[in-house]
Amino acid sequence: MSIAAAVDDDLLPELRALLGGESDPIANAANTAALIFARLPRLNWAGFYFLQGDTLVLGPFQGQPACTRIKLGSGVCGTAVDRQETIVVPDVHEFPGHIVCDSASRSEIVVPLNVAGKLSGVLDIDSPDLDRFGAAERALLEAVAAIYVEACEKSREAVRF
Ligand code: SME
Repeated sequence: MSIAAAVDDDLLPELRALLGGESDPIANAANTAALIFARLPRLNWAGFYFLQGDTLVLGPFQGQPACTRIKLGSGVCGTAVDRQETIVVPDVHEFPGHIVCDSASRSEIVVPLNVAGKLSGVLDIDSPDLDRFGAAERALLEAVAAIYVEACEKSREAVRF
C-alpha cells in the first residue's frame, strides 16, 4: 500500500472519531477543515461556505484568507449549489467565472452539503497542482462531507442551517 493510500484510509475513521463526540456544526466544520488540510498533501485551501439566503458565507477553513461572500450561481462554489452536485475543476483557469481567492490555486473540488434535506453549504478544497482531484479524491471528499452532514443532522444546532 502506498503512503498516500494509507493516509486516505485513516482519514475517514479519524474524522468519525473526531466528530462523534461533538454536535456543534461550526466546531465540527473547523475540525473537518483542519483534518483535511493536515492529512491530504498538495492542498492550499480547505474549508466551508454556508448558505444564507442567496449567498454563500465563509465558514471555518485552513489556508489563506478567502472571499467572504459568494452569490448563488457564481464561481465554482455557487455553481455547485445551483447544480446540487460535486464539481471537480482540473484547471481553475478553464472554469468560466472561477473566483480567485488564492492565486496559487490551480485545481479545485466543491462538494455540496445537504443537511436534513436542505442545501446548506459547500465543502471547498483547492490545490496548487493541476488536476489534483481524481475519482478517488472525489469519493474520499464526498465521504468526508457525508460524515460532516451526519454529525450536523444529529445536532440540535442543525436548525441554524
Ligand atoms: N474558487 C472558489 C472561491 C472560494 S476559494 O477557492 C476559497 C469559487 O470559484 O467559487
